[in-house]
Amino acid sequence: MALALLTVLLALFFAPSHSTTFTVRNNCPYTVWAAASPGGGRRLNRGQTWTLNVPAGTSMARIWGRTNCNFDASGRGHCQTGDCGNVLQCTGWGVPPNTLAEYALNQFGNLDFYDISLVDGFNIPMEFSPTRPSSKAKCRQIKCTSDVNGQCPNQLKAPGGCNNPCTVFKTDEYCCTKGKCGPTNFSKFFKNKCPDAYSYPQDDPTSTFTCPSGSTDYTVVFCPMGSSYFPLEMFGSESSE
Ligand SMILES: *[C@@H]1O[C@H](CO)[C@@H](O)[C@H](O)[C@H]1NC(C)=O
Repeated sequence: MALALLTVLLALFFAPSHSTTFTVRNNCPYTVWAAASPGGGRRLNRGQTWTLNVPAGTSMARIWGRTNCNFDASGRGHCQTGDCGNVLQCTGWGVPPNTLAEYALNQFGNLDFYDISLVDGFNIPMEFSPTRPSSKAKCRQIKCTSDVNGQCPNQLKAPGGCNNPCTVFKTDEYCCTKGKCGPTNFSKFFKNKCPDAYSYPQDDPTSTFTCPSGSTDYTVVFCPMGSSYFPLEMFGSESSE
């Protein structure tokens, strides 16, 4: 018994990889219903945070914000942007438009990969930062704080956000469904507004960031310092549960 316990303790102590903490903070003047896959969901009033412990090796993961939601006591309801199947606790991904914080832990070269993506459009300004940046890799704070909603091209305008062209036009060129694809007239709008973020599916060279695995935790902030807000009516949209 004691030996078993000792073994467990040693395994925990010497485990080569551990969990990584993601702190999600809502700095917006309005309520954001944070969503994470894996992780679920959480209502965040202005200034509130949500802490997620993510197991080593997690990949294809994302964190995003939902706006103008109405959930009942059982957690059923709907959001204007980022909705994940009418539930507070997301198990799948959100409906575009939604600004995404994407990551994969402990990948090739013992690196964590992370990015902000506008490939599913934009709803909320976002920052994604390692808590311990490093010059050893492309391991630094990235953000997308421009007024993307306010300057969204007419054809992409959506309630509460700015759509990605694939969602609107559904063409191979915009969706990048076959082989190689490059920037488009619409993706250039997103890249111009947010140079750190993915503006089309194969926008990797300027949009992928990496940190040595296990060297840092991460913070995702909705409406970080310097964000533009639009429309201004959103300031008054403190919806109910
Ligand atoms: C991009 O090209 C399409 C197709 O020619 C056009 O309808 C659209 O207005 C263009 N968008 C921008 C932002 O120039």
